[in-house]
Amino acid sequence: MAMGVERLGPRLWRVVSRSGRVFHMRPIRPEDAPALQRAFVAQKPEDRKLRLLSAIPRLPDRMALRFCTVDGVRDAALVLVDDAAPGELFGGARLMRDGEPGTQAGERAEFAVSVASGLQGEGLGRMALETVFALGAEMGIRRVWGSVSRGNEGMRALARRLGMTERADPDDRTLVICEKTLAPDGGAATAG
Ligand SMILES: CC(C)(COP(=O)(O)OP(=O)(O)OC[C@H]1O[C@@H](n2cnc3c(N)ncnc32)[C@H](O)[C@@H]1OP(=O)(O)O)[C@@H](O)C(=O)NCCC(=O)NCCS
Repeated sequence: MAMGVERLGPRLWRVVSRSGRVFHMRPIRPEDAPALQRAFVAQKPEDRKLRLLSAIPRLPDRMALRFCTVDGVRDAALVLVDDAAPGELFGGARLMRDGEPGTQAGERAEFAVSVASGLQGEGLGRMALETVFALGAEMGIRRVWGSVSRGNEGMRALARRLGMTERADPDDRTLVICEKTLAPDGGAATAG
């Protein structure tokens, strides 16, 4: 089966990894909080640190619930699930608009992406991010950005692969900011 993403519905995708494993991708839900905590603990410590830019060993209940409570209008978060492993999460990507919740939704959003440590290199991070960018464009998001550790070669390579530009974070020299403008149709985006 060829690697790729197929949209099955407005908020449902079928994702085939490089090795042919089939996943579905759907919006995260509050009920996913315990699974998100399990997935977080199962990550290699270095991957946990790269994702949150902090070394916490587990996601506190309130933080997990917050990560799983996403309205799909202002913000978007998609998770990878496998029908053969119900109740487990294998990764995902999100876009959180700048500004406090409750303020007017702007056109800029911060991205984040994560893939289970044992499933990396299968194209899942790229497909999850591309899908959430396309969805974000439909939601009116025009520019996406993310803070990435300088040492995070994988994420920096993925950002380049997706046509993002990179600049030094003026506030933290251990970080770079990767960003790009989304095409309104979510397709090929302009670099820069
Ligand atoms: C960064 C991360 C999401 C990448 O996910 P992934 O599923 O392993 O990446 P993919 O297999 O989709 O790779 C996509 C592209 O990125 C590049 N890439 C990914 N990891 C790489 C690495 N370690 N070294 C070099 N290039 C890499 C490749 O060029 C690849 O291109 P290809 O599709 O043509 O092969 C994953 O490593 C991860 O979860 N890391 C920990 C959390 C994190 O760092 N999140 C980012 C913070 S916002």
